[in-house]
Amino acid sequence: MPKEIRIVARLAAKRPGPKDPSLQWNRATRHFAAGVPYSFWLSGVKRYTPPGCLTGLYRHTLDGTLMTYRWISVSLAALAIVACVPRHNGRARAGGPRPKSTEGTVVVPAPEASSNTAAPDPTNPFVGATFYINPEYVKEVEDAAAASPENAATIKKVAAFPTATWIVMNSFVEKVPKVLDAAAKQSGSDGKPILSAFVVYNLPNRDCAAKASSGELTVDNGGEQRYKTEFIDKIAAQFAKYPKQRIVVFLEPDSLPNLVTNLTQKQCAAGEHAYKNSIAYAITKLNMPNVSIYLDIGHAGWLGWEGNRQKAAGVYKDVLTQAGGADKIRGFVTNIANYNTVASLDGHKLGPTNPCPDELTYAKKLTEAFAAVGVTGKKFVIDTSRNGRPTRSTWSSWCNVKAAGLGPRPQASPDPLIDAYFWIKPPGESDGTSDPKSPRTDPACKTGDSMENAPEAGEWFQPYFINLVKNAEPPL
Ligand code: BGC
Repeated sequence: MPKEIRIVARLAAKRPGPKDPSLQWNRATRHFAAGVPYSFWLSGVKRYTPPGCLTGLYRHTLDGTLMTYRWISVSLAALAIVACVPRHNGRARAGGPRPKSTEGTVVVPAPEASSNTAAPDPTNPFVGATFYINPEYVKEVEDAAAASPENAATIKKVAAFPTATWIVMNSFVEKVPKVLDAAAKQSGSDGKPILSAFVVYNLPNRDCAAKASSGELTVDNGGEQRYKTEFIDKIAAQFAKYPKQRIVVFLEPDSLPNLVTNLTQKQCAAGEHAYKNSIAYAITKLNMPNVSIYLDIGHAGWLGWEGNRQKAAGVYKDVLTQAGGADKIRGFVTNIANYNTVASLDGHKLGPTNPCPDELTYAKKLTEAFAAVGVTGKKFVIDTSRNGRPTRSTWSSWCNVKAAGLGPRPQASPDPLIDAYFWIKPPGESDGTSDPKSPRTDPACKTGDSMENAPEAGEWFQPYFINLVKNAEPPL
């Protein structure tokens, strides 16, 4: 029996009313534009409910740039089925018993005046910008292609996508002007502003609940002061020299989430005040007209639970108040170097009690939690570098998850709440070593979900990269 249906749809711009069953579909796929054909695969279709709807596990690709999994109800009233070809083991077949699911081509009636494609937010820095392509990452990809000639053609495609530049030690500050000078050269005759993205990641007691990415500064070695004067001040001085460029900062992955859930760990408790002071300082200093700051807020599988979200809202609000107000940041960044899909059933399997099974739901629920403490209007960026498909046996697997694939391509405004999907963790760079002799060895890098023989965090991991490329969703 065929396991999935394939529907090619042409969608109306009609905005469904609150009682319209197609609302669920519309919510899941805010990006639909009228008159554009879309392909859908509905697997495990089990019932027509509510009446007139088809409910199933939904997967969506648009121009090869977006893919989501979600239970949805499609309003059949809004669709006109043009053709129907059942699928069996991935191949089309004719006739046979009635499939559990159906494949078809669907065209939706002509659009009405209002559209569900919201007008681009002019204050979103990603909108209308050309994204800087990091030549260092391009070199890594080209070397990878040379080392794997049988996959070279596909691998080379990865070089076309932007990645963030990680500033992870005081000495790495020198990369900032190099990137911004190179970005100025990349900014072409199209008249679009160039956008470069930096991960600012060097807190004292960094990575306090894990080991793989522990850093050079500690609270004990005067790390807070050094972070401010040798790191943040210097980055700020460089940013100030490029007022015409758009600069995005992803600030301190995992740090405040660790204060929400991991204060029982010695390094986190010892770092609590330094984390808060340092992040507040960084926000104050890096807040410039051309710099958009997104403060890291973990991911759905970490802070998705109600209690964690509420606690997070309090912690973040305190830090933002200390920084001079929530308006100093553009928003929050989720899923950095993690593997959660933007929209899928995966979270229901990994943590049935978590109301946030994916990153889009997480962003929406965080927005509610922040509103409750008076922080409103914040937008999100989601790291989609390696979240193409559900892959893990447990949410705690965060290190070099071997079945992962490249995720949705970097893009501005995929949802009104989301400023961008962006490849923040450069695909192919390791999450942490699996060498038990390394001082940064972390048990999470040696689980059944992790690929073996992994180098130190940040170093190139060729077999891992090949897997990411082969498992890319959507495919390259
Ligand atoms: C590492 C950094 C590295 C970054 C990007 C992090 O996990 O700790 O050293 O630059 O990943 O690969």
